[in-house]
Amino acid sequence: MNVIPLTCALGAEIQGVSLAEASRNSPLAQEIKALLLEHKVLFLRNQQITDAEHAAFARHFGELQDHPLVDSAEGEPGIIQIWKTPESPPERYENVWHNDSTFRECPPMGAVLRCVECPPVGGDTMWANMELAYERLPEHIKETIADLRARHSMEALFMAAKPIEERLAMKARFPDPEHPIVRTHPVTGRKSLFVGGFVTHLTNFHTARNVRVGQDWHPGASQLLQYLISQAFIPEYQLRWRWQANDVAIWDNRCTQHYAVMDYAPCHRKMNRATIVGDRPF
Ligand code: SIN
Repeated sequence: MNVIPLTCALGAEIQGVSLAEASRNSPLAQEIKALLLEHKVLFLRNQQITDAEHAAFARHFGELQDHPLVDSAEGEPGIIQIWKTPESPPERYENVWHNDSTFRECPPMGAVLRCVECPPVGGDTMWANMELAYERLPEHIKETIADLRARHSMEALFMAAKPIEERLAMKARFPDPEHPIVRTHPVTGRKSLFVGGFVTHLTNFHTARNVRVGQDWHPGASQLLQYLISQAFIPEYQLRWRWQANDVAIWDNRCTQHYAVMDYAPCHRKMNRATIVGDRPF
């Protein structure tokens, strides 16, 4: 196995490994899991695997989870199809920096994404190392945000264009959870900044320490939140992957964010994702 780091921030390409074999070989899958903790995002080229092998490999990391708004592969629950065609409705998108599914009380620990079909050019995905983003914050910001929490909402991000009844029904299924702004990785113990695209507002900013009079609340909380969200935009924390069909990316959703660049219309782009159940953030 060759492991080639891709940037100074995160990511490595693994060569000389077949995920079809790893799907049946637990020690090999555990080796890849250890590399994931180190590099946060892993890439493998030329993996001609079936949906069943894809799901079986991902299950070495944990149980799989479908998505309330995205179709799953027929006969293979656990593999969601993020397929874009010229006819795709405009109101579903991934071109926002985010950790996956933080609208859940227990967001996924990670994902295994396979490129089924990609446009001739464009449709890259970017990742950002949110541990680095946290580590490099000024000390006074770290102190300010140490105990802050934020509301995450699938209603606000994915349901805004839907009729109110549908929107409220989805909100009843996924009541907007609250998560810490600074998350501790359950395995490595490292801290990361945990504010992605599903965040709507800070929930406990309004204290005597932060707010003297009501006028402080809105600009103080929203400017701080915007500043924290914008840390993922810093190129020194990022990598960008240019897909080929049968590439696979594996990422740790607890300490990275990602962004699927939507610059390829009207081409097709078809990605299959196995999403792995995670823990409650703390
Ligand atoms: C996602 O947001 O999980 C999808 C990423 C991609 O399609 O590149």
